[in-house]
Amino acid sequence: MSVVTTSTDERRMSASLFSRLRTAGGQADPFPIYGELLSRGEVIPAPWGGSVVTSFALCDQVLRSRDWLEPDKQWRGRQPPGTRWNASSSQEMSNTLAALNPPDHTRARRAAGTFDRSTVEQISRTVTATTARLLDTFSERLRDGEADFVALVGEELPVATIGGWLGLPAADWPRLRHLTHDQVFTQELLPSASQLAASDAATAELRAYFTALVRERRAHPGDDPVSRWTRTWDAMEPDRDKADEAVYFLVLFVLLAALETTSQLLTTMTLLLVERPDRWDMVAERPDSVPAFVEETLRYDPPTHVISRVAAEDRVLGGMEIRKDEMVHLMVGAAHRDPARHSDPDRFDLRRKPAHLAFSGGIHYCLGAPLARLEAQILLRHIVRRLPRLALVRRPSMAPRVAFRRLLNLDVALA
Ligand code: HEM
Repeated sequence: MSVVTTSTDERRMSASLFSRLRTAGGQADPFPIYGELLSRGEVIPAPWGGSVVTSFALCDQVLRSRDWLEPDKQWRGRQPPGTRWNASSSQEMSNTLAALNPPDHTRARRAAGTFDRSTVEQISRTVTATTARLLDTFSERLRDGEADFVALVGEELPVATIGGWLGLPAADWPRLRHLTHDQVFTQELLPSASQLAASDAATAELRAYFTALVRERRAHPGDDPVSRWTRTWDAMEPDRDKADEAVYFLVLFVLLAALETTSQLLTTMTLLLVERPDRWDMVAERPDSVPAFVEETLRYDPPTHVISRVAAEDRVLGGMEIRKDEMVHLMVGAAHRDPARHSDPDRFDLRRKPAHLAFSGGIHYCLGAPLARLEAQILLRHIVRRLPRLALVRRPSMAPRVAFRRLLNLDVALA
């Protein structure tokens, strides 16, 4: 196999593409930049070190292969001082599911359980009731003029769903949502020093909140997920403090994983709907197309555009030599537009065979995928059934992020 060496020119070119990706314009529409990255190769050097994987086939391969690992606690410990990996928020995240490798991951994932059919059915009743209530307020606001979908629905439905399921008091939801927005920066592609500081502060507050919650549920157990996780961990771990710590990391991660990602899915889906009246009419006439609409949204513009892994050993990937411990950034947002995987990839097309990596793949496949799909499908059905056609009032703004997309507003009015 021939192995590609990286020229200074290549690194310079990828540096220029990534700096464009970090501008407001690049974040509003990263897809032309992804097209350029794809045209430069399946694996290209990342300007800050490591590599960037652009093709669908190789992103999929890395996610499913045991040759590639999560950047875990040991890996973070081997990074030089003063990097983002030493930040307290990053250290805290290194104990959560998505930063564990087998065998620790296998154990923690088994303890987390799954959203089985009966749990999903039970949650779906709450999601339906919450959706109806949120759309009542949204409709009222629309009668008076324009309304921001993000503030009134997109951010509210996920926190009510996960907060309700975990049994968190509704009065705490706004604070938890706010802390999550800051916390996520530590999981960004290239967080700035001030973003990391905001993430560190949010992480400390979330630790205090959730360790108190775990203590309280141990003292007064009930039939809620945190009490169930405590019982599961007690059966696996004789040391009570360690069991409580494991439950804390699980509940923390579930909240973080569930909020922004799902809000972003709901908002992007609604943007794609209001942008084009023919799409709205089609879904309204054919409600059976709702699941396909949700899946195509997840392909077209997924909430998470980048997933990272590190090499377990020296490897050659797509002709590029990658040394043990080097990081590969899987550009999922680009891979979803890879013409080798999807014909006419820039077209939003409900007739495609669903194939996307929005929920990752392999052993870290998103635990909450059934819940995210449930919320999106129920919401979309309600919107087209209950609301008259809407129109976009202005282009939405994006948060300054590359990996975790976040629409800050979606201002709409009656069409
Ligand atoms: C549209 C919404 C969502 C998206 C796009 C999403 C995306 C992802 C992705 C990409 C990963 C894997 C990260 C990696 O491979 O390193 C992941 C993992 C995870 N997600 Fe989600 N997620 C969503 C909603 C949720 C919800 C609602 C929950 C909670 C109920 C959740 C809980 C988790 C957990 C616990 C993991 C860790 C799994 C593991 O490492 O074994 N997610 N998610």
